[in-house]
Amino acid sequence: MIILGIETSCDETAAAVVKDGDILSDIVRSQVNLFEEYGGVVPEISSRRHLELIHPIVKLSLKRAGITLGNIDGIAATKKPGLIGSLLVGYSYAKALSYGLRKPLVGIDHLHAHIYSAEIGKKFQFPLLGLVVSGGHTAAFLVNDLDFKVVARTRDDAAGEAFDKVAKKLGLGYPGGPVIEKLADGGNSEAFNFSQARFKDGSLDFSYSGLKSQAVRISERENFNDEKLRDFLASFQKAIVTQLLNRLDALVKIYKPEAVSITGGVSQNQHLRISAEDYARKAGLKLYLPEKKYCGDNAAMIAYLGEKMLGAGYKDDLFSTPFPRTMASKGEKQFK
Ligand code: KG4
Ligand code: ZN
Repeated sequence: MIILGIETSCDETAAAVVKDGDILSDIVRSQVNLFEEYGGVVPEISSRRHLELIHPIVKLSLKRAGITLGNIDGIAATKKPGLIGSLLVGYSYAKALSYGLRKPLVGIDHLHAHIYSAEIGKKFQFPLLGLVVSGGHTAAFLVNDLDFKVVARTRDDAAGEAFDKVAKKLGLGYPGGPVIEKLADGGNSEAFNFSQARFKDGSLDFSYSGLKSQAVRISERENFNDEKLRDFLASFQKAIVTQLLNRLDALVKIYKPEAVSITGGVSQNQHLRISAEDYARKAGLKLYLPEKKYCGDNAAMIAYLGEKMLGAGYKDDLFSTPFPRTMASKGEKQFK
């Protein structure tokens, strides 16, 4: 099957074409430069930019794949979670295409697609425990084929959000994760102490607002020279990674998966990747990490999962609408 994938949930406008699991094209137009001065995404600006970009990006993805609209067997578009104005642009565009071409549409959960980004070019073993670590979400799923069960999610900030907010506070730019990783290189990660959140109810949910507040307090107290800043950022980065891997380990002990995956924008972080490989080797678990180009938001992962879902009979009609949150969203009340 040839599937066109569309992704506009946050600040990347992306389109991709997948054929039988192979990525034929993968176009991502990031809007990050629009948001540097704000230190974060401004939803209204983002959705207006998606409107301008969606059509040329889709056309370019078809051209790069060497196909025309007539060759497409189906369309997959991000349906949730995300910024509602941004989601509406991509999803409405996809519905219009589906109607005009008389081809099936499937709405995709962005977090499920992040998980499957780690399968591109590989084959998952199940059950899989999938961590999604991004700027908007930090959640763990127990995955069996196309069945996704949320087993933990952040109660407050996402891991990427903690990177972004601390970088903003220090005036280091946006997005914060890559800047902090670069500036932390070679720093002493034992130099500063961070205490990790624990929940009285024994929950394995994530929590990053405490680490973020500790980082802000330290930065207000200290007078950083270059070396001290490097040590501080290395310690902060380590604290974020430590929580991720400690929670992963505790979840592995409960759910006993065959394999684990770590995906989402933060999975580009080299310290996280190396620590995860080390952990998985010691635990005797198969680890799936996405190629770096598939870690951040992209449409290849949307088309890739879309092909599987359409193949399994999932379809959305033209009355379906996108929505901003899921059970994996932070602080989600009805989460059990
Ligand atoms: O998945 P993504 O592109 O968008 C969301 O769905 O949120 O993730 C973006 C997040 C940002 O918070 C960014 O700071 C973080 O991923 N990020 C990183 C790195 N590269 C991107 N965090 C840590 N280290 C990195 N190298
Ligand atoms: Zn994402």
